[in-house]
Amino acid sequence: MKIGVPREVWPGECRVAASPANVKRLGKLGFSVLVESGAGTAASFEDEIYRQAGAEVVEETAALWQQSDIVIKVRAPMENPKTGIDEVDLLREGGTLISFIWPGEEVDLVQKLAARKATVLAMDCVPRISRAQKLDALSSMANIAGYRAVLEAAHHFGSFFTGQMTAAGKVPPAKVMVVGAGVAGLSAIGAARGLGAIVRAFDTRPAVEEQVQSMGAEFLTVRIEEDGTGSGGYAKQMSQAFIDAEHALFEEQAPDIDIIITTALIPGRPAPLLITEQAVKNMKAGSVIVDLAAERGGNTAGAVADQVVLSHGVKIIGYTDLPSRMPKVSSNLYGNNICHLLDDMGGAENYKVDEEDEVVRGALVLNGGAMKWPAPVKKLTEQTKASDPAQQELAAAAVAPAVEKDRGPLALLLIGLALIAVGWSGDTGFLHQVTVFVLSCFIGYQVIWNVSASLHTPLMSVTNAISGIIIVGGMLQLGGPLDSPATILGVIAVFFATINIAGGFLVTQRMLKMFQR
Ligand code: NAI
Repeated sequence: MKIGVPREVWPGECRVAASPANVKRLGKLGFSVLVESGAGTAASFEDEIYRQAGAEVVEETAALWQQSDIVIKVRAPMENPKTGIDEVDLLREGGTLISFIWPGEEVDLVQKLAARKATVLAMDCVPRISRAQKLDALSSMANIAGYRAVLEAAHHFGSFFTGQMTAAGKVPPAKVMVVGAGVAGLSAIGAARGLGAIVRAFDTRPAVEEQVQSMGAEFLTVRIEEDGTGSGGYAKQMSQAFIDAEHALFEEQAPDIDIIITTALIPGRPAPLLITEQAVKNMKAGSVIVDLAAERGGNTAGAVADQVVLSHGVKIIGYTDLPSRMPKVSSNLYGNNICHLLDDMGGAENYKVDEEDEVVRGALVLNGGAMKWPAPVKKLTEQTKASDPAQQELAAAAVAPAVEKDRGPLALLLIGLALIAVGWSGDTGFLHQVTVFVLSCFIGYQVIWNVSASLHTPLMSVTNAISGIIIVGGMLQLGGPLDSPATILGVIAVFFATINIAGGFLVTQRMLKMFQR
């Protein structure tokens, strides 16, 4: 099966849908990869590096599109401004296209693709669920955009981020405010903190408060209670009273803040105006605002897409191509997202557009020309399962019948009582041991069962201690005759507890690596 990687035609686009590392990975998945000559040049990937990675470099654009079973792209297909050729016309009839599509807005494009009986998977429609994190291209691009926004701000800001005390004088640290602490916002907070700035952040979803604080930033609040948590890991639209309270907060913060980075957006809606002209006026001259939502109208009064505007002495940056300004890493991460998707779809050998797979179904816009977007909304419980992991847990807790929840400890108690009844023969030693056993099971169940899924990994390493006790207990039994039940049980206990301890150490090691720089 052949995958084609054409050169992007969007003016100024520096990304490419697959880096040489991605080509190697696609090769391992069984695909042959064709790359258009020069496709990776703007991302510092020359043709020769693609060849070394196992790709065939094709000179002719049309030949590449025609030979490819699956074409992977970054930007949605468009008319090449240089040649006037529409990329949709290059896609072979019944071919497959994987790229950003934005089917909600690009209605004409989707119709044209349908006329070519294309199968189209939109990377912007991958559902935001835990299983699909590795192929969530919106998140990987937003992460880069948040980081780059800080670098752009630093470039335009006439001072240090970190405070300095030098012989020539004292320079206070820069104060950065991030509005919207989603993927891009959190990445911006991390980058600004890394450069030494004092960071404040605001978001309508209270759930992000802890994340913001854990990154060393202060979480700002308004004096009006409204939860902005929507479905699918995204936010919902806020009331006018809440937006007014935000305006007041930002106007009050503005004189004290040097850099504002705005990322607030609700999918499918124009960006809410949050930084009013008054707030811009209130900032010190030389301050900088980077508006990541400029493409959707902007969060800032006066922001213009793709331009740097000077307003009341404040620079407002409205770049909409932030990931493309770091093309090497963004191409590589985007390519990784596509590799994961193709891996999920069975690789080259078992490749299948499986409509039962909720990730594939979510991203599927057209299947053989038949309209598939938007994916049907499932029943409440299933839909909530498809949202973010925190909501999953809440939903599971709400939906699971109470009886089921109580069944575990009840069953344990019943087994315990049965054991006591069976073992009751006046042997107080046996009764004592059974009582300790039943109580341990009961307490262990109560302690572990309600631990949230996100804490299972640290919990597993903690259970090492418990396994240690089991090993000691097992070893004490090993001295007896080989055929006695106590020795056999001792061997089994030592064997399984050893697996648990070794596994625990491995997991702990991996966790520690995550925190190492
Ligand atoms: P996200 O959905 O993860 O985060 C958006 C955040 O804004 C959410 O946490 C949401 O709760 C918050 N929000 C919504 N309404 C708000 C309000 N009224 N006040 C405060 N917070 C509010 O989105 P993600 O992936 O972080 O992207 C953020 C923005 O960055 C989007 O506008 C996206 O289009 C843009 N973007 C821009 C790029 C560029 O080059 N300029 C590149 C990539 C993304």
